[in-house]
Amino acid sequence: MTHSKISHHAQKLKSSAIRELLKHSKMPGVLSLGGGIPDPGLFDRDGLQLAMDKVLSDGWQEAFQYGLTEGIPELRAAICQLMQQRAVTCDVDDVLVTSGSQQSLDILARALINPGDVVVVERPTYLAALQVMQLAEASLMSVGSDGDGMIVDELAERLKTTRVKAVYIVPTFGNPSGVTLSDARRQQLVALSQQYDFVIIEDDPYGEINFTDRTFTPIKAWATEMGAGENVVYTSTFSKILAPGARVGWLVLPVWLKRPVASLKQATDLHTSTLSQAFTWRYLDSGRLPQQIRLIRNAYQHKCHLLSACLQTELGDQIRFHQPMGGMFLWATLRDRRNTTDWLQTTLSNGVVYVPGEFFYSDNPDRTTLRLSYVSASDADLQEAVRRLKASL
Ligand SMILES: Cc1ncc(COP(=O)(O)O)c(C=O)c1O
Repeated sequence: MTHSKISHHAQKLKSSAIRELLKHSKMPGVLSLGGGIPDPGLFDRDGLQLAMDKVLSDGWQEAFQYGLTEGIPELRAAICQLMQQRAVTCDVDDVLVTSGSQQSLDILARALINPGDVVVVERPTYLAALQVMQLAEASLMSVGSDGDGMIVDELAERLKTTRVKAVYIVPTFGNPSGVTLSDARRQQLVALSQQYDFVIIEDDPYGEINFTDRTFTPIKAWATEMGAGENVVYTSTFSKILAPGARVGWLVLPVWLKRPVASLKQATDLHTSTLSQAFTWRYLDSGRLPQQIRLIRNAYQHKCHLLSACLQTELGDQIRFHQPMGGMFLWATLRDRRNTTDWLQTTLSNGVVYVPGEFFYSDNPDRTTLRLSYVSASDADLQEAVRRLKASL
């Protein structure tokens, strides 16, 4: 096939840097701090088996049949309960099951964005959200972030002169930054959405992976309290707390978005796999999720602290990083200002990989940054990986 047969959209899409890297991470002897995938060693084998058995024994034919576009009612009801625990009150009707948050983002982009519409993203932000927004031909505008998440004052300044359609944000234990938006900024963001009438797309895959005793109230909940619930669309997923292979996520939709989103979902894949949905519902119904979340939290917290301690000991004066309060990622900057994309060749030859930071920016990348994932490596490998990073400097 000639190149010209490929659509302009598809031609523009760059292959994910992370996927390319994962190839290297599979090379023998290479330690990877690169991948963003959960630790499969923590998958709840017994719970998955019980849920599968239940699917195959109870009303099994429905699990293999076509279903409603919005999702199976039992799962949507269970998601409402989960949302209640996250301080968000919603009805079954507000919930639409998706094939993961990635699909939520794709559908939202198609439902909301006309070519040229301005979408605000954090600096840095989730790489695959950038791809989705670019496919929708959004005009991306990035706003800086610090230890308290997106610098909402900077957004407020921009809003004075720019008409913004939507703000995309990962407010809690963000990917890649690991930072969390403060409560004050959450409320300020909601107030701005009221003043300037834009949509907040709240992407929350990591909120449950909390290493602290603090609770982080979703923007959606603040918005409801402030009378602006209709300004926020919330997405989350079972990928990081149960199993990404199930491909089950969800949207909590404002009333005005329900119909267009349901139509787009229908046109995309009719509905999310009923088998995956039935399985996820049976798992939730078994009551095992809270215990599973505790297990993941404890394991990732331990790994996060270990990586931070090693970085501090081995590379203390050569690297700066923010200590995450949860999630899967540690975001760092090299003090000698070296280019981390170039440096990867050296670290790879020393047997360790990470994700260079530049891929997480929509513009003006800070090429001295890097993302380190701590969740999949063993303790010994984390320690060795840091020694190899040190040797590469
Ligand atoms: C911020 C963010 N949003 C969405 C996703 C996609 O998750 P899902 O597996 O639910 O599609 C990820 C996955 O890494 C993510 O980090």
